Amino acid sequence: MLEVKEIHTHYGQSHILQGISLTVKPGQVLAVLGRNGVGKTTLVHSLVSFVKPTGGRIHFRGGDITGRPTHQIIRQGLTLVPQGRRVFRSLSVLENLTVPYRCLSPAPNKSWDIGTAFQVFPHLEIRKNQRAGNLSGGEQQMLAMARALVSRPQMVLFDEPSEGLAPMVVKEISKVIKGLADQGLAVLLIEQNFNMALNTAHEVLVMSRGQIVHRSSPQDLAKNNDIKSRYLGM
Ligand SMILES: Nc1ncnc2c1ncn2[C@@H]1O[C@H](COP(=O)(O)OP(=O)(O)O)[C@@H](O)[C@H]1O
Ligand SMILES: [Mg+2]
Repeated sequence: MLEVKEIHTHYGQSHILQGISLTVKPGQVLAVLGRNGVGKTTLVHSLVSFVKPTGGRIHFRGGDITGRPTHQIIRQGLTLVPQGRRVFRSLSVLENLTVPYRCLSPAPNKSWDIGTAFQVFPHLEIRKNQRAGNLSGGEQQMLAMARALVSRPQMVLFDEPSEGLAPMVVKEISKVIKGLADQGLAVLLIEQNFNMALNTAHEVLVMSRGQIVHRSSPQDLAKNNDIKSRYLGM
Protein backbone atom coordinates (compact mmCIF):
# COMPACT_ATOMS: atom_id res chain seq x y z
CA MET A 1 0.00 0.00 0.00
CA LEU A 2 2.69 2.49 1.06
CA GLU A 3 6.38 2.37 0.34
CA VAL A 4 8.62 5.13 1.63
CA LYS A 5 12.20 5.10 0.38
CA GLU A 6 14.91 7.13 2.08
CA ILE A 7 13.00 10.35 2.55
CA HIS A 8 14.65 13.51 3.80
CA THR A 9 12.78 16.62 4.95
CA HIS A 10 14.15 20.03 5.87
CA TYR A 11 12.64 23.09 7.52
CA GLY A 12 14.94 25.74 6.09
CA GLN A 13 18.44 24.72 7.17
CA SER A 14 17.21 22.16 9.73
CA HIS A 15 17.58 18.65 8.41
CA ILE A 16 14.71 16.86 10.21
CA LEU A 17 14.03 13.54 8.45
CA GLN A 18 17.30 11.86 7.60
CA GLY A 19 16.54 8.94 5.32
CA ILE A 20 13.34 7.29 6.54
CA SER A 21 12.25 4.07 4.81
CA LEU A 22 9.19 2.01 5.64
CA THR A 23 6.42 -0.03 4.08
CA VAL A 24 2.85 -0.62 5.19
CA LYS A 25 0.71 -3.42 3.75
CA PRO A 26 -3.09 -3.59 3.48
CA GLY A 27 -4.50 -4.84 6.79
CA GLN A 28 -1.36 -3.85 8.68
CA VAL A 29 -0.93 -1.41 11.58
CA LEU A 30 2.60 -0.05 11.69
CA ALA A 31 3.35 2.00 14.81
CA VAL A 32 6.04 4.66 15.04
CA LEU A 33 7.25 5.51 18.54
CA GLY A 34 9.67 8.20 19.61
CA ARG A 35 10.18 11.07 22.01
CA ASN A 36 8.96 14.60 21.42
CA GLY A 37 10.71 16.41 18.61
CA VAL A 38 12.24 13.40 16.83
CA GLY A 39 10.26 14.09 13.63
CA LYS A 40 7.15 11.89 13.87
CA THR A 41 4.73 14.62 12.80
CA THR A 42 7.17 15.76 10.13
CA LEU A 43 7.07 12.20 8.79
CA VAL A 44 3.28 12.08 8.38
CA HIS A 45 3.23 15.67 7.11
CA SER A 46 5.80 14.69 4.49
CA LEU A 47 3.63 11.76 3.36
CA VAL A 48 0.67 14.04 2.58
CA SER A 49 2.79 16.95 1.31
CA PHE A 50 2.04 19.37 4.15
CA VAL A 51 5.78 19.75 3.93
CA LYS A 52 7.58 18.58 0.81
CA PRO A 53 10.41 16.08 1.22
CA THR A 54 13.77 17.24 -0.10
CA GLY A 55 14.88 13.74 -1.06
CA GLY A 56 13.63 10.18 -1.44
CA ARG A 57 10.42 8.77 -2.88
CA ILE A 58 6.95 7.92 -1.57
CA HIS A 59 4.88 5.34 -3.44
CA PHE A 60 1.22 4.84 -2.63
CA ARG A 61 -0.85 2.10 -4.28
CA GLY A 62 1.81 1.73 -6.93
CA GLY A 63 2.01 5.44 -7.89
CA ASP A 64 4.64 8.01 -6.97
CA ILE A 65 2.98 10.63 -4.74
CA THR A 66 6.15 12.40 -3.59
CA GLY A 67 5.40 16.12 -3.25
CA ARG A 68 2.03 15.82 -5.05
CA PRO A 69 -0.69 18.28 -3.95
CA THR A 70 -2.35 17.17 -0.71
CA HIS A 71 -5.89 17.10 -2.14
CA GLN A 72 -4.75 14.69 -4.86
CA ILE A 73 -3.11 12.41 -2.31
CA ILE A 74 -6.27 12.34 -0.20
CA ARG A 75 -8.37 11.62 -3.27
CA GLN A 76 -6.13 8.65 -4.00
CA GLY A 77 -7.08 7.26 -0.60
CA LEU A 78 -4.39 8.36 1.86
CA THR A 79 -5.68 10.46 4.72
CA LEU A 80 -4.36 12.01 7.93
CA VAL A 81 -5.96 12.33 11.37
CA PRO A 82 -3.78 15.19 12.59
CA GLN A 83 -2.23 15.61 16.01
CA GLY A 84 -4.33 17.60 18.48
CA ARG A 85 -7.72 16.41 17.15
CA ARG A 86 -8.44 19.33 14.86
CA VAL A 87 -12.16 19.59 14.26
CA PHE A 88 -14.21 22.53 12.99
CA ARG A 89 -15.25 23.71 16.44
CA SER A 90 -18.02 26.06 15.36
CA LEU A 91 -19.65 23.46 13.07
CA SER A 92 -21.94 20.67 14.23
CA VAL A 93 -20.83 17.05 14.34
CA LEU A 94 -22.87 16.31 11.24
CA GLU A 95 -21.40 19.31 9.38
CA ASN A 96 -17.90 18.17 10.29
CA LEU A 97 -18.69 14.88 8.59
CA THR A 98 -20.38 16.27 5.49
CA VAL A 99 -17.61 18.70 4.54
CA PRO A 100 -15.20 15.95 3.38
CA TYR A 101 -18.11 13.91 2.01
CA ARG A 102 -18.45 16.37 -0.86
CA CYS A 103 -15.03 15.61 -2.30
CA LEU A 104 -15.06 11.83 -2.48
CA SER A 105 -12.52 10.02 -4.55
CA PRO A 106 -13.75 8.77 -7.94
CA ALA A 107 -12.99 5.14 -7.06
CA PRO A 108 -13.91 5.13 -3.40
CA ASN A 109 -13.62 2.39 -0.89
CA LYS A 110 -17.36 1.80 -0.70
CA SER A 111 -17.39 0.57 2.85
CA TRP A 112 -17.49 4.00 4.55
CA ASP A 113 -20.09 6.70 4.83
CA ILE A 114 -21.68 8.74 7.58
CA GLY A 115 -23.95 5.85 8.59
CA THR A 116 -20.93 3.62 9.09
CA ALA A 117 -19.19 6.35 11.04
CA PHE A 118 -22.15 6.50 13.41
CA GLN A 119 -22.18 2.71 13.78
CA VAL A 120 -18.53 2.76 14.81
CA PHE A 121 -18.96 5.83 17.02
CA PRO A 122 -22.56 5.69 18.32
CA HIS A 123 -21.76 8.55 20.67
CA LEU A 124 -21.34 10.87 17.72
CA GLU A 125 -24.81 10.11 16.40
CA ILE A 126 -26.38 11.10 19.71
CA ARG A 127 -24.49 14.37 19.49
CA LYS A 128 -24.79 14.96 15.77
CA ASN A 129 -26.38 18.41 16.08
CA GLN A 130 -24.03 19.74 18.76
CA ARG A 131 -21.18 22.08 18.02
CA ALA A 132 -17.94 20.13 17.80
CA GLY A 133 -16.32 22.64 20.15
CA ASN A 134 -18.66 21.49 22.92
CA LEU A 135 -17.64 17.81 22.72
CA SER A 136 -15.29 16.16 25.21
CA GLY A 137 -11.69 15.51 24.13
CA GLY A 138 -12.46 11.85 23.47
CA GLU A 139 -15.51 12.70 21.37
CA GLN A 140 -13.49 15.25 19.38
CA GLN A 141 -10.87 12.60 18.65
CA MET A 142 -13.59 10.22 17.49
CA LEU A 143 -15.01 12.96 15.28
CA ALA A 144 -11.58 13.64 13.79
CA MET A 145 -11.27 9.92 13.06
CA ALA A 146 -14.78 9.65 11.64
CA ARG A 147 -14.15 12.67 9.42
CA ALA A 148 -11.05 11.06 7.95
CA LEU A 149 -12.97 7.83 7.37
CA VAL A 150 -15.86 9.33 5.43
CA SER A 151 -13.34 10.36 2.79
CA ARG A 152 -13.20 6.57 2.20
CA PRO A 153 -9.47 6.06 2.52
CA GLN A 154 -7.42 2.97 1.78
CA MET A 155 -4.86 4.09 4.32
CA VAL A 156 -5.02 6.29 7.43
CA LEU A 157 -2.20 8.10 9.21
CA PHE A 158 -2.96 8.72 12.90
CA ASP A 159 -0.75 11.29 14.64
CA GLU A 160 -0.86 10.57 18.39
CA PRO A 161 -4.58 9.80 18.60
CA SER A 162 -4.37 8.88 22.30
CA GLU A 163 -2.73 12.15 23.41
CA GLY A 164 -4.38 13.55 26.51
CA LEU A 165 -7.27 11.07 26.58
CA ALA A 166 -8.59 8.89 29.41
CA PRO A 167 -7.54 5.19 29.42
CA MET A 168 -11.08 4.02 28.56
CA VAL A 169 -11.19 6.23 25.47
CA VAL A 170 -7.69 5.15 24.46
CA LYS A 171 -8.85 1.53 24.56
CA GLU A 172 -11.82 2.32 22.36
CA ILE A 173 -9.65 4.15 19.84
CA SER A 174 -7.24 1.23 19.74
CA LYS A 175 -10.15 -1.11 19.06
CA VAL A 176 -11.40 1.04 16.19
CA ILE A 177 -7.92 1.18 14.63
CA LYS A 178 -7.59 -2.60 14.82
CA GLY A 179 -11.02 -2.93 13.25
CA LEU A 180 -9.97 -0.74 10.32
CA ALA A 181 -6.97 -2.97 9.69
CA ASP A 182 -9.21 -6.04 9.89
CA GLN A 183 -11.25 -4.48 7.08
CA GLY A 184 -8.10 -4.28 4.98
CA LEU A 185 -7.06 -0.67 5.51
CA ALA A 186 -3.40 0.11 6.03
CA VAL A 187 -2.60 2.15 9.15
CA LEU A 188 0.42 4.17 10.20
CA LEU A 189 0.04 4.94 13.89
CA ILE A 190 2.25 7.60 15.46
CA GLU A 191 2.21 7.25 19.23
CA GLN A 192 3.93 8.19 22.46
CA ASN A 193 1.66 5.86 24.45
CA PHE A 194 3.87 2.77 24.47
CA ASN A 195 1.24 0.27 25.64
CA MET A 196 -1.41 1.56 23.26
CA ALA A 197 1.00 1.31 20.31
CA LEU A 198 2.14 -2.20 21.24
CA ASN A 199 -1.40 -3.44 21.79
CA THR A 200 -2.59 -2.04 18.47
CA ALA A 201 0.26 -2.59 16.00
CA HIS A 202 1.57 -5.58 14.05
CA GLU A 203 5.01 -4.02 13.69
CA VAL A 204 6.77 -1.16 15.49
CA LEU A 205 9.44 1.35 14.54
CA VAL A 206 11.33 3.60 16.93
CA MET A 207 12.52 7.00 15.71
CA SER A 208 15.29 9.16 17.08
CA ARG A 209 16.57 12.42 15.57
CA GLY A 210 14.94 11.89 12.19
CA GLN A 211 16.08 8.30 11.77
CA ILE A 212 14.63 4.87 12.42
CA VAL A 213 16.74 3.25 15.09
CA HIS A 214 14.75 0.07 15.71
CA ARG A 215 12.15 -2.07 13.98
CA SER A 216 10.61 -5.27 15.30
CA SER A 217 7.45 -7.00 16.40
CA PRO A 218 5.66 -5.39 19.36
CA GLN A 219 6.58 -8.44 21.47
CA ASP A 220 10.30 -8.02 20.76
CA LEU A 221 10.25 -4.31 21.54
CA ALA A 222 8.41 -4.99 24.81
CA LYS A 223 11.37 -7.15 25.89
CA ASN A 224 14.09 -4.81 24.60
CA ASN A 225 15.06 -2.76 27.65
CA ASP A 226 18.06 -1.22 25.93
CA ILE A 227 15.98 0.42 23.16
CA LYS A 228 13.26 1.38 25.63
CA SER A 229 15.64 3.20 27.95
CA ARG A 230 17.81 4.72 25.23
CA TYR A 231 15.10 6.08 22.94
CA LEU A 232 11.81 6.04 24.82
CA GLY A 233 12.87 7.20 28.28
CA MET A 234 11.47 4.09 29.97
N1 LIG B 1 7.12 24.18 10.76
C1 LIG B 1 8.32 23.98 11.34
N2 LIG B 1 9.36 24.81 11.11
C2 LIG B 1 10.57 24.61 11.68
N3 LIG B 1 10.87 23.58 12.50
C3 LIG B 1 9.88 22.71 12.77
C4 LIG B 1 8.56 22.86 12.21
N4 LIG B 1 7.79 21.84 12.65
C5 LIG B 1 8.58 21.10 13.46
N5 LIG B 1 9.82 21.62 13.52
C6 LIG B 1 10.97 21.04 14.25
O1 LIG B 1 11.21 19.75 13.71
C7 LIG B 1 11.55 18.83 14.72
C8 LIG B 1 10.61 17.65 14.66
O2 LIG B 1 9.30 18.07 15.01
P1 LIG B 1 8.04 17.11 14.91
O3 LIG B 1 8.05 16.43 13.61
O4 LIG B 1 6.86 17.91 15.27
O5 LIG B 1 8.38 16.05 16.07
P2 LIG B 1 7.44 15.03 16.87
O6 LIG B 1 6.15 14.94 16.15
O7 LIG B 1 8.22 13.74 16.88
O8 LIG B 1 7.30 15.59 18.25
C9 LIG B 1 11.50 19.59 16.05
O9 LIG B 1 12.82 19.99 16.36
C10 LIG B 1 10.64 20.78 15.73
O10 LIG B 1 10.98 21.88 16.52
MG1 LIG C 1 4.18 15.27 16.75
